[in-house]
Amino acid sequence: GLGGLIKIRGDRCWRDLTCMDFHYETQPVPNPMAYVLHRSPWWFHRFETLSNHFLELVVPFFVFLGRSMCILHGALQILFQVVLIVSGNLSFLNWLTIVPSLACFDDATLAFLFPSGPGGLKDRVLKMQEEEAQGPRAVQTYGCVARRLVNLAMGVLIAGLSVPVVLNLLSPRQIMNSSFHPLRIVNTYGAFGSITKERTEVILQGTASPNASAPDAEWKDYEFKCKPGDLRRRPCLISPYHYRLDWLMWFAAFQTYEHNEWIIHLAGKLLANDAQALSLLGVNPFEGTAPPRWVRGEHYRYKFSRPGGRHAAEGKWWIRKRLGPYFPPLRLQDLKGYFKSREWPEPEPK
Ligand SMILES: *[C@@H]1O[C@H](CO)[C@@H](O)[C@H](O)[C@H]1NC(C)=O
Repeated sequence: GLGGLIKIRGDRCWRDLTCMDFHYETQPVPNPMAYVLHRSPWWFHRFETLSNHFLELVVPFFVFLGRSMCILHGALQILFQVVLIVSGNLSFLNWLTIVPSLACFDDATLAFLFPSGPGGLKDRVLKMQEEEAQGPRAVQTYGCVARRLVNLAMGVLIAGLSVPVVLNLLSPRQIMNSSFHPLRIVNTYGAFGSITKERTEVILQGTASPNASAPDAEWKDYEFKCKPGDLRRRPCLISPYHYRLDWLMWFAAFQTYEHNEWIIHLAGKLLANDAQALSLLGVNPFEGTAPPRWVRGEHYRYKFSRPGGRHAAEGKWWIRKRLGPYFPPLRLQDLKGYFKSREWPEPEPK
């Protein structure tokens, strides 16, 4: 519900139903299905956006409408999350969202999963329940009373902590991802409040050339495990695992390196051929050689190639256009002051 409302308020494309024209290409780490779905007809993208609103704004309230509506809620929610898992690498996010929906399926709904017949699990449980009903009523132990009290206290606490969350939901200036208490027990959460219309990527490159400005300097791309880089590499499939660095690179591409100083830290590690940092990447072009003399970040715009088109025929999933530098060529010795002023340990070449 929170996520649905923030969308309607956050981005025009959620109101004119065009968000899905962009989402598959610009989401954090697209997968092969996103490449296909991006080319769906316009009416399908409108339908998807409308379905998203229905699922995020209407379906959540089904939980309060009795057993069968709750089961319907659980089924729709799981279906929605499975569609999201298939159409994008949003990692554990969707799996986690499925968990509370499972509570809608009571024993009667889930009974089909277990063997029936005489001596079967269902039969044995029924017998146990009958015996319990006939036997003497269980006495209330202190443990039971204490548990009730703890449950009640938890309920009151959650209700109290939810007040600012509900006020935020009703406020015209709703905030997207935030917590209102130091313990962060009840938070407000929403994803994709606004949809990026253009995909940009930061590509890290290194060269062994002693002169970074020399026209014959050969720059080689570092490849990440999952995020787009090499145009010929098929978009990856990863779920529920999360490549945090690839995800951070997506955010970094919206801004500049000054907003993301960690990327200069990473450049320092690459200049030192740091094994731990390199273990987070997919391909190190300086594997088994001396570390690069220079590392730079380049800013590119990425688009999916058109299926059946010229680029796709060349084996390219992506086409890209250089926008400019993201950070200039750096040497290890240039970074000494930068690292020192931030109290980062100096990268040690091995
Ligand atoms: C590096 O190459 C550029 C371009 O060829 C040249 O102008 C510059 O003098 C070179 N620098 C050094 C230190 O050799």
